[in-house]
Amino acid sequence: MDFLRQLPAHVYITGTLAFLVWYRQYGGYRFRCFMSIVLLLVLATYGVIASLILPIFGKAGLINYTVARGYYYLGGFFTGLRCTILGQENILQSPAVYVCNHQSSLDVMVMGAVYPKNTSVVAKKEIKYYPFLGWFMTLSNAIFLDRKNRANALKEAKQAAENINKKQLSVWLFPEGTRGHSSKVDLLPFKKGAFHMAVQARVPIVPVVIANYNDVYSTKAKRFIPGNVNIKVLPPVLTSDIEGDSSSIEKLSVRIRESMLTTLREISPHTKDE
Ligand SMILES: *[C@@H]1O[C@H](CO)[C@@H](O)[C@H](O)[C@H]1NC(C)=O
Ligand SMILES: *[C@@H]1O[C@H](CO)[C@@H](O)[C@H](O)[C@H]1NC(C)=O
Repeated sequence: MDFLRQLPAHVYITGTLAFLVWYRQYGGYRFRCFMSIVLLLVLATYGVIASLILPIFGKAGLINYTVARGYYYLGGFFTGLRCTILGQENILQSPAVYVCNHQSSLDVMVMGAVYPKNTSVVAKKEIKYYPFLGWFMTLSNAIFLDRKNRANALKEAKQAAENINKKQLSVWLFPEGTRGHSSKVDLLPFKKGAFHMAVQARVPIVPVVIANYNDVYSTKAKRFIPGNVNIKVLPPVLTSDIEGDSSSIEKLSVRIRESMLTTLREISPHTKDE
């Protein structure tokens, strides 16, 4: 084995890169899933470090943004995932509530393609206990909602709204509350938290629709192939003239869900639904 040690470093480096390029092309489902997890771990570690360092330079607003973009670009490199973004101009430079549909854990990588600056993810409490992602989010003070407890949920929405205004932050939520349909082009009913938050904070709601990507990624079919996923950012919906009562919130959420569903059908690949 001595001859291995005598090989110059560049042989190893070139060899490793060639292997990665080859693997990226032909690695298949297991490799891509494996890389998605490894990279999540890498980015979550980076996130923990970034949340210690970036605030010193007044750049706390870039923590989540750099984690998200980093995950998208690195993940894209290793898995061949690409996103086409429509309506990028609807991403605001001021605080907003972003609502996005939720298909699978791959959403974390996909949403990295559009994730805005100065934005925190609001997640259900259970995420806290997910390895790596949950730990990073806990360490970086992510906002967690208690979905089981309605009184608490309203209080938390109010607190989040105060945070949005005080810290000039945006928030990103998945109003379906849980992973929705992945093999069917559809949305689950929306939870109201995001809409309460936006109305109380008087900031616009920006719907973000990730096309159905069952053709690219499906755990059921054990499929993960290089491919494109469309994302469409819809025009901001202003909330300043909307009352905070439950029927107005209900109407608002139904209206936004309808527009997201129409868009979902528009931008998803027109293969068979089921
Ligand atoms: C993000 O926040 C920083 C600091 O509060 C601010 O200077 C910057 O303009 C904000 N950027 C966006 C895109 O909201
Ligand atoms: C990043 O996210 C954490 C929560 O995950 C939050 O505490 C921090 O302020 C965020 N910074 C931004 C807005 O990027």
